[in-house]
Amino acid sequence: MPARLQSILDNIPEDVSVADIGSDHAYIPIGLWKRGNPGPIIATEVKKGPYNQALKSILDSNAEVELRLGDGLEPIKSGEVDWIVIAGMGGHTIMKILEQSETILPSFKAFLLQPMFKTEELRKKVVELGLFIQREWVVNERKKCYDFMIVVPDYKMC
Ligand SMILES: C[S@@+](CC[C@H](N)C(=O)[O-])C[C@H]1O[C@@H](n2cnc3c(N)ncnc32)[C@H](O)[C@@H]1O
Repeated sequence: MPARLQSILDNIPEDVSVADIGSDHAYIPIGLWKRGNPGPIIATEVKKGPYNQALKSILDSNAEVELRLGDGLEPIKSGEVDWIVIAGMGGHTIMKILEQSETILPSFKAFLLQPMFKTEELRKKVVELGLFIQREWVVNERKKCYDFMIVVPDYKMC
């Protein structure tokens, strides 16, 4: 497992349900299922190509991961899972996904965000949306640095 993806798995508690938005290869939800995170474990994709890629990975691994097609958080009901992962996308795309579903953001316990660029702008946006940055870290993989942040709707979690 590449260090970037491993770091995502390592920083999600083992007792939470998760939706992985823009899952593509579905390594994150499959990894969570393999280590025993409770359901529902949901993978989403907005594009048919990556959706089919995720479907193949899920079927090949026999994982109990629910796959849904749709834009951003639209396929996820309010409070349906504990944690939301949005990783491997540009900061602007992550900002748009959060903004589009602003009203349901407080229904989730935490968000693990991993922007590929525009981290500074994403930081400002999450604060504007009334969320709190609990923790940030960086992982170096093959001489490239990846930013990660855990964001929570409740400041008492900080
Ligand atoms: C580079 S892949 C990252 C895959 C995986 N999350 C990771 O971190 O390795 C980005 C994926 O996000 C998906 N994506 C982009 N915008 C999206 C949106 N608004 N809603 C859901 N998925 C989206 C793309 O289709 C693509 O498969």
